[in-house]
Amino acid sequence: MTENTNSISARLKLCGKYFKSPQYAWFVAVTGMVIVSVCEPLVPALLKPLLDKGFVSGDLNVWLVPVALIGIFITRSVGSFIAQIALAKIANHGVLQMRLKLFDKLLKTDAKLYSEESAGSIINTMIHETQAGANLMVNSLLTLGRDSLTLLALLAFLIYTNWQLIVVVGLLFPALFWTIRKTTNRLGRLNQESLDSNDRLAYAIEENVLAYREIRLQGAQKQQADRFQLLSTQTFRLFMKAMTASALITPLTQILSALALSAVISFALIQSNTNGTTVGEFAAFVTGMLMLVAPIKHLSEVVGPMNRGLTSLERAIYFMDRYPNERGGSYRSNRLNGLIEYTSTSVTFPEMDHPAIVDINLTIQPGQTVAFVGASGAGKTTLVNVLPRWISPSSGSIKIDHVSIDQYDLEFLRHQIGMVSQHVIVMNDSLFNNVCLGQIPDKNKAIRCLESANLGEWLMQLPQGIDTIVGHNASKLSGGQKQRLAIARAMYKDSPILILDEATSALDNESERLVQEALNRLSSGRTTLIVAHRLSTIEKADLIVVMDKGRIVEKGQHRDLLEKKNLYHTLFNSKSNSDEI
Ligand SMILES: Nc1ncnc2c1ncn2[C@@H]1O[C@H](COP(=O)(O)OP(=O)(O)OP(=O)(O)O)[C@@H](O)[C@H]1O
Ligand SMILES: [Mg+2]
Repeated sequence: MTENTNSISARLKLCGKYFKSPQYAWFVAVTGMVIVSVCEPLVPALLKPLLDKGFVSGDLNVWLVPVALIGIFITRSVGSFIAQIALAKIANHGVLQMRLKLFDKLLKTDAKLYSEESAGSIINTMIHETQAGANLMVNSLLTLGRDSLTLLALLAFLIYTNWQLIVVVGLLFPALFWTIRKTTNRLGRLNQESLDSNDRLAYAIEENVLAYREIRLQGAQKQQADRFQLLSTQTFRLFMKAMTASALITPLTQILSALALSAVISFALIQSNTNGTTVGEFAAFVTGMLMLVAPIKHLSEVVGPMNRGLTSLERAIYFMDRYPNERGGSYRSNRLNGLIEYTSTSVTFPEMDHPAIVDINLTIQPGQTVAFVGASGAGKTTLVNVLPRWISPSSGSIKIDHVSIDQYDLEFLRHQIGMVSQHVIVMNDSLFNNVCLGQIPDKNKAIRCLESANLGEWLMQLPQGIDTIVGHNASKLSGGQKQRLAIARAMYKDSPILILDEATSALDNESERLVQEALNRLSSGRTTLIVAHRLSTIEKADLIVVMDKGRIVEKGQHRDLLEKKNLYHTLFNSKSNSDEI
């Protein structure tokens, strides 16, 4: 996270663009604030005639002051109410805009966001930071607007009443602003650290929620509790520091106000001796001056919440600016044939000293089934993941139907590729919506696909059939059922290129047979790339590519490769042995 080196006004400008509309709300808010602030000096102004004419000379109408007082307070309350509602509208409208933009970012961002940010911190930013930031900001703006206008109105009244005394009050301001400036920077830094620390807390909770079984199985509860305690204590300390810095502003302001008040009283007493200031004038002035303390205090207190609010909003903005959107080309065509050509393709992940795949040269004909085998970490997944552009090659090129994959429109390219992997992600929605995810819904087609994926029998047993809700993380489905659901999804998508990455590795023999049958049905007529550990499942592939440490070391058909007695032969024998066990 960047340090807050910018001035408050620059930061306000940055965040302010989300809070510009609706304009009528701003108009109402400002009107409300002006009403409130104009009402304020009317109270001390009433004191002068009340004291000089009402009490001293007795020629004031009895009901005039009470009625005026009621009128002032009703007007002031109405102004305050409409300003608050209008600002709430602006704040929540801003939150809405920010959330929509953030969600859009989630849908379009480069994969970097997902490797750098935890789900906890993303949720925290999108839900809590935006809301808290906007609320704090708007309340601060309300204070800032209302109280600075009040301050101006009161000052105008005081100058009008007795301009000499105002000089004394004026001495208060430089001291006050100096105090505020001093504390702002420290507060900004502390707020920043508190938010980062909150993120770490959220991350620890997220991990513990996801891995509760492993933590108990490994007996790591104490270690996790200690970790959480450490993080919580850090957060606690940071919040305390920030609170202390924020709380210090108020007593300092009050001391300065008391000094000013004492000076004014002394001056007024001297003045009344020399040029005969009336009682009413003095009372009106002192009341007006005492009324200054409240807005000054509010204004000095506004810095803390405003800083916190700005920090929260900046976090959301930073989140949008830091991660660029995925960039694709614009080329679209009809359905692709599925001719795939890798030319000298290499991938090196950031912060890795050795490449994941090196100098891959491979051509896959339309409709061919190609299997990738090799030890764990050999680069098989990386090789297939460059096709839908989850990963970008560091050098070399990949073409599909003679067009470089960078030139394709991303949506079009991904529409041409179906994927089934070991980790099937199922949305908490109906079976039907899961099968036709992102495609045009067609119930009969979805049922046919589920049947072809060997889920027909299971579907018949479900009371709600295809409308059954699968539950959070598809908890109502077994591993094999989830995998067949993913196959049904790929069948529904009916794309010319199919990627199967360890699609059967987590299954028992019976489920594997069902999944395998479904896969055979799915892959016919498509260019299919299979990554498999169980070599028995790929014997019939048109081409088997053997990988080792990121390179292609052998390729050919099953029988030929076995005869060569190289790596494939070794892998095959070790795998068949372990399969038998
Ligand atoms: N996101 C990533 N960031 C950094 N390194 C990665 C990333 N993904 C993979 N790697 C590295 O790239 C290499 C190849 O990984 P890959 O997942 O392609 O292997 P694989 O052949 O699919 O292995 P397995 O059979 O275990 O699935 C590994 O050394 C791995 O550590
Ligand atoms: Mg893999």
